[in-house]
Amino acid sequence: MIRLKSVAEIDRLRCAGAKLSEVLHFVGEMVSPGVTTKDLDRAAEVRIRELGAKPAFLHYSGYPATLCVSVNEQVIHGIPGRRVLESGDVVSLDLGLVFDDYYADSAITVGCGTMAARDVELIDTTREGLYAGIGAVRAGARLGDIGHEVQTLVEAHGMSVVRDYVGHGVGRELHEDPEVPNYGRAGTGIALKEGLVIAVEPMVNAGSSAVRVLEDDWTVVTVDGQKSAHFEHTVAVTAKGPLILTQP
Ligand code: MF3
Ligand code: CO
Repeated sequence: MIRLKSVAEIDRLRCAGAKLSEVLHFVGEMVSPGVTTKDLDRAAEVRIRELGAKPAFLHYSGYPATLCVSVNEQVIHGIPGRRVLESGDVVSLDLGLVFDDYYADSAITVGCGTMAARDVELIDTTREGLYAGIGAVRAGARLGDIGHEVQTLVEAHGMSVVRDYVGHGVGRELHEDPEVPNYGRAGTGIALKEGLVIAVEPMVNAGSSAVRVLEDDWTVVTVDGQKSAHFEHTVAVTAKGPLILTQP
């Protein structure tokens, strides 16, 4: 069931989203050779609590951390730990928080130190794919329009969109209906209405779209071992078009 949000609810989501954006970019700035993934997780949790919010992922379905840190061939849901970041790593950071009973969810991918040109292209393409998808988040558009925009942009770079994981509705809960695929056909799927709030979150692989889950039951990696990137924003459909809630 899709729960549309009132203007007052979208204001509350905007507060949650602004805090999330601040923490996520703070943690993104910390990414550099020698930093451990656990350092990033700890900083994220401390900053979230300082802002009077709570981590959304910690203990969600048993997830053991505040932040997901997915490095190189890891696509999503990488668990922070003792791993030390190295120059050239592609580092995806996914973070969610709840503030005033509303959830916000966002992800960025940053390069660590000196980056290979193709890895910079992977990161840029994934970010551009997210913004292409967000461009389709308008009243009267269809859900398939979002995925179509993401997929078209990504495949033009010879890269692929992950199909086994999708974006989602967000608001009173971290995951609400509908599912928001990053692939699809324009003009198909449900019509987008004012008050719809969704997390658009393309996961883009440099090689094949195939992924699998590691033995830790969380970390999703590419089957071919090539690198992957992930960007995500929480976005509302408003009378004035898409409103990105997870930015300052
Ligand atoms: N942004 C991810 C999602 O929407 C993060 C969830 S990870 C979990 O699914 F740890 F919370 F499960
Ligand atoms: Co999400």
